Formats: sequence, C-alpha cells, structure tokens
Amino acid sequence: MSETDRHPFLTGLSKHRGAQPTCVVIFGASGDLAARKLLPALYNLVVDSLLPADFHLVGFGRKAVPDAEFRVQAAKDIARFSRREFRPDIWRHIEDHASYVAGGYDEPAAYEALKRRIAAAEKAAGRPLQLVFYVSTPPTVFEAILENLGRSGLAARNLGTPLESKVIIEKPFGRDLASAVTLNSVAARNFREPQVFRIDHYLGKETVQDLLVQRFANPMFEPLWNRHHVDHVQITVAEELGVGSRGGYYDHSGATRDMLQNHTMQLLALTAMEQPRSLSAEHIRDEKVKLLESVRPLRLGAGGDAVRAQYSEGLSGGEKVPGYLAEKDIPADSATETFCALRLMIENSRWAGVPFYMRSGKRLARRVSEIAIQFKQPESGLFAGDARYDLVPNRLVIQIQPDEGTTLVLNSKVPGLEPRTQPVRLSFRYATTYGSNTPEAYERLILDAIVGDRTLFIRGDETEASWRLFTPLLDSWASAGRSGLESYAAGSWGPAGADALLGTHGHAWRNAGR
Ligand code: BG6
Repeated sequence: MSETDRHPFLTGLSKHRGAQPTCVVIFGASGDLAARKLLPALYNLVVDSLLPADFHLVGFGRKAVPDAEFRVQAAKDIARFSRREFRPDIWRHIEDHASYVAGGYDEPAAYEALKRRIAAAEKAAGRPLQLVFYVSTPPTVFEAILENLGRSGLAARNLGTPLESKVIIEKPFGRDLASAVTLNSVAARNFREPQVFRIDHYLGKETVQDLLVQRFANPMFEPLWNRHHVDHVQITVAEELGVGSRGGYYDHSGATRDMLQNHTMQLLALTAMEQPRSLSAEHIRDEKVKLLESVRPLRLGAGGDAVRAQYSEGLSGGEKVPGYLAEKDIPADSATETFCALRLMIENSRWAGVPFYMRSGKRLARRVSEIAIQFKQPESGLFAGDARYDLVPNRLVIQIQPDEGTTLVLNSKVPGLEPRTQPVRLSFRYATTYGSNTPEAYERLILDAIVGDRTLFIRGDETEASWRLFTPLLDSWASAGRSGLESYAAGSWGPAGADALLGTHGHAWRNAGR
C-alpha cells in the first residue's frame, strides 16, 4: 500500500478538534452497549480522523478475558455494528493499542492493575495521556467505580491541565431524587464537576442539536414561540420493539425511568427553554435547569397528569407478539409500565396555560420520535367560520427519528374554480438534503467528552430537577402496584387513558397518518 493510500489516522494527519493524546477506559467493556455503540463509535471517530494519533483503549470488566480475545470480539462487534465499513488496516492500528483488564468494580487491586496498564500505554506513547473513563456498567456499581477511581488517584490525574481525567457516566443516573443526589455527591467527592459527563444519548442526535439552530437561528419562530400563538405541544418517543432480552434491567426501570425522565425531558427542555445568553455549555444548561424547575408538580391519581400502561399480546409488524408479562425475565405480576403519557404545564410567562403532552412506550404502532408544535387556530379572520374552507391549525413537526426532518403544515388553496382549501406540507428531510450517513449520537458525545465540551451532557442540578418532578409520581405508582395500570395491545398507539389525557382539553394525539 503506498503512503497516499494510507488513511490519515495512520499517517498522523488527524483532523481532530484539538483532542489530547488519550486513553479511553470502558467499564463494562463486554456489555451490550460497548458492543453495539461504544466500540463502533470509537472506530468511526478513528475512520473520520477525529481522534488523536495517540489513542489507546482499555476494556475493563468482571469477566476474565485475555487481551487477544477482547480484540477479536471488539473487531467482530465493530464489523457488525459500525456505520462505516470495517477496514482491517485501521483496525490493526487500533488493536495494537487496545487491551483488557479483568477485575471486580469494587476491588482496589483491579484499579492497581488498571494503573499498570495505563502506565504501559503511556510508555508506549512516550508521553502522558488524558484518561477518559466510560462507566457503562449496571448502575449498581456506578458508585463503587467512582470511589475507586478517586481512591486510586486516577480521577485526580493531571488535574487542572489539559490532560485532566474525565468520567462519562451512562444512564440511569439514579432511580429517584435521593439516589441521584447520592450519586452526584459520590461524583463530587471524587471528581470536580467539569470532569463529569452525564450522558443522555438523545443530546448527541443530529436532529436534537438542530433544535437549537432551528429555534434560535430562524428569527421567524421566536415571536410565535409562546402561549399567545401555541395551542399545545406533543412530544412522542415511540418504539416498535418490546423489551427483548433486556427484561431484567427493564422491569426495574419502566418507561418513565428509561425514557421520560431523561430523553423526553431533554427534548422538552430544548423546545421550551428561553434563549441562552450564549452557546456556552453553562448558559445552555442554566436555561434547561430553569425550564425544568418551572414545570408544575404533577397531579397524581385518577384524572391527574399521568397515565401508565403495560402492553398485552398483539401484532407488531404483522407478527403476533407476546404481552409484557410473558416476556423473558418478567415476573408474572409485574406492575412495571411499558408506556407513560404525561401532561406538563410550565409555569412561566412564555408558556402559562399551554399543555405539553409527552408519551413514550415500547411495542407501539411505529418507531417515531417527534416534537409537534401545534399553533392556535384563529377564531376570526378572512376564512374563519366559512364551511367551504377546510382549515387546519398550523403545525411544525420536528421529526427526531426515523426519516429525520422538519415539516410545516399550512393551509393552501386547491387549484380550480371551487373555493376550496386543504392542508399541505412544507418538508425538509435530512436524507435528501445532507445524505444519510451522518455520525451516530455516541460518536459525537464521546468526541465531545474527549475534547472536554460539556454542552451536550447533563449537569448534576439538571438531573435532580427532573427527578424532583418524577419521584412523587413513581412513588405513588410503587405503592399502588397494578391498581390504575392500564393495558394496550402490542402494535397499537397506547391505552385509552392516554387519549383521555388530551381529550378532556379537546386535543388528540397525532398518530400515523394524522
Ligand atoms: C435507551 C433505552 O436509553 O434508549 C432503551 O434504555 C431505548 O430502552 C433506547 O430502546 C432508544 O434509543 P434510540 O436512540 O434507539 O431512540
């Protein structure tokens, strides 16, 4: 292979955004997330020449896995899940700098072994490396890992310099307010807040980042983005899949902890927050926290602001699928919700009186995540009240996935001699405009952590503000057990209660085809 055929990464011509020479340590390296998302993301960053040439990888896990086996498995995972084609020449370079450390997450000796491995990597690099720890284990060992990184001195390595250690913490960040507060204090005992990167992968999605641009780079929206013009907002994060093989995790979590408390609340915050003073991480996160703290406490009980339900047997993609209680690892009397719908009211001058409806669930009719802003329909005006005109409220739909894009629904005259109107769609699709091979959320987020950009990560007070809202609701459901838990057929759009939540206000969910 000639020098010109060689990938820039291999010739040291990385176009990374100032990333320091880095060693990424993945805790939970033999887990599902590492296989499907983290290793492929790192590989794609290398392919895109976004990582520094001095990039080292250490897998850490409980299972004893020889280095060679870790490398072979990682190559298989990358070949299977990476968005870019697997290139053996690039992989060979990565695997030369990849190794594995086995040990218990709470065993100090394992962290000594990790230190030796890092020292070997630094010796090979001939320079000190920035350490980026990715905590991708079950949440039960998050605290043990943070404490041991602190005790072993790894957390404080190169503090105050560009090579300062960083820690990325996966979700779930706590399971209620008290546990999130404890986890935050364990993190604060061992790291400084600027070193802590609480991840919510929805923030790494291109469409979610584009929300800020669409809202604040297009001045036509700002005058309309308030209670005078917006009737209500619907945020849907619907999945077609069931719990699959993740029953053990999911049954302790449920839709509200798994999706609403984090992903959909982030969508809400970005949709409804005030314009930040600047694009700096702190200004954006300040505005998100303010917004989350302005949400009215949820009204609990029947007729309140929340509906929960579990899927029963039904049809998904034309196939008969079992109900939740018949899924693997789910207790026959489980009260875990696989669907949650909420009505949120934001108590500030911009949004007073505008309902924000949010829903998320598994085994729904279609995989779709979207934010729909429904504008008010004026009661008077040139065409209002005339039965010949079929006027619909204007609607802006930001589709997060799939078929990423934005649609604006307008009224238009139907050509012809009859005075008729019909709704039409102005539509922008990412795939048509930009092509479809855009970076995955984890690529963006891992790179941001490596270069120390916290904009797309959750701050400690942000996660607590969200848990403050959800904890009373989750506690009330825990004490009610299955009482009040609704059911919906797999493959449907959810339970009747979710329709009633909107129906009482004269609204209806925007389901497929509507
Ligand atoms: C994860 C949840 O955070 O997000 C999963 O734990 C869910 O249950 C997933 O399936 C959805 O992510 P995406 O990117 O496929 O919408």
